[in-house]
Amino acid sequence: MITTTGLSKVYRSRGREVTALDGVDLHVREGEVYGVIGQSGAGKSSLIRCINLLERPTSGTVTVAGQDLTALAGRGPRATRELRRARSRIGMVFQHFNLLSSRTVRDNVELPLEILGWTGKERSRKALELLDLVGLADQAAAHPAQLSGGQKQRVGIARALAGDPEVLLSDEATSALDPETTRSILQLLRDLNRQLGLTVLLITHEMDVVKSVCDSAALMEKGRIVESGTVADLLATPGSELAAALFPVGGDASAEDRTVLDVTFHGEAATRPVISQLARTYNVDISILGAAIDTVGGLQVGRMRIELPGRYEENVVPIGFLREQGLQIDVVSAEPVPAGPVATGPVPAKEGAR
Ligand SMILES: Nc1ncnc2c1ncn2[C@@H]1O[C@H](COP(=O)(O)OP(=O)(O)OP(=O)(O)O)[C@@H](O)[C@H]1O
Ligand SMILES: [Mg+2]
Repeated sequence: MITTTGLSKVYRSRGREVTALDGVDLHVREGEVYGVIGQSGAGKSSLIRCINLLERPTSGTVTVAGQDLTALAGRGPRATRELRRARSRIGMVFQHFNLLSSRTVRDNVELPLEILGWTGKERSRKALELLDLVGLADQAAAHPAQLSGGQKQRVGIARALAGDPEVLLSDEATSALDPETTRSILQLLRDLNRQLGLTVLLITHEMDVVKSVCDSAALMEKGRIVESGTVADLLATPGSELAAALFPVGGDASAEDRTVLDVTFHGEAATRPVISQLARTYNVDISILGAAIDTVGGLQVGRMRIELPGRYEENVVPIGFLREQGLQIDVVSAEPVPAGPVATGPVPAKEGAR
């Protein structure tokens, strides 16, 4: 539904160049909620502004619903009209709502329809329908100043839906809201995704947002996507930074000569008594340092941090046993990773990839 290839954006101001996007290949499938997470300055807002062509990409292409927007942007006035029409099929939700304070709630929602040339009666009917959809039918005549933050964002969402978009882009839509309001807005986005088949691309710096609503996610650093995939695939990827952040388990080794493992259970493996089998078969004492069961992207996942006596080299066989049982094992490095080749030293987290 949304594809970017080699998308780059270089800002030039006062003789300085800032590379905000550095060859971003993103693929958002139809009907999914896709989260892009990253630290401040990673390029998240630049990405979203380049996707709806509010910002002209320096290079690369953007395709939304099968239409190459970057090609349209480069081709004179007639194409510009086409681009405007294409853009009206992309809804946009902002962190600070961007409502007009002089207009009523209903008039705010009608604004994009005015621009599209709808008649007053049609606009009003559509606006009331959308306000009903976001749970604000009774506030149509209010002014933005009379609404709470969460209600303002609902108006922002209703306005974004005015042109019957197939895609909704959201830039930190919940960052200005308290946790409970955040949950209700995320639930609304999820409901709209399900009810209307709306594809949602949301940008956030909060892992909880990704955890509660996203089907897929990407991690951005310095203008690049460094990890991406469905939440299920990420959780099954050994050493995935996103998976560890989505689903953290704590706990430190009790002594130096111990092996600490993160064991992730999903699917059928979760139901077998693997840990007690391990203890019996290899006669090892296993300590549980931390554990959690959670729902991530609609999947039940369990993760446990366990400690085995002895260093990694002494535990190769038990670790092999756990992997054979279909569990995902990440070896947690307790000691600093040595600079040289890893011969006998501790094992970096990526070891699990083998
Ligand atoms: N209009 C602009 N002119 C010049 N530089 C810009 C402009 N917009 C963004 N940048 C720079 O591009 C980089 C990426 O900015 P961007 O706003 O995309 O990051 P972000 O991930 O959205 O950050 P945040 O989480 O703080 O919103 C930053 O170094 C920023 O200073
Ligand atoms: Mg931003």
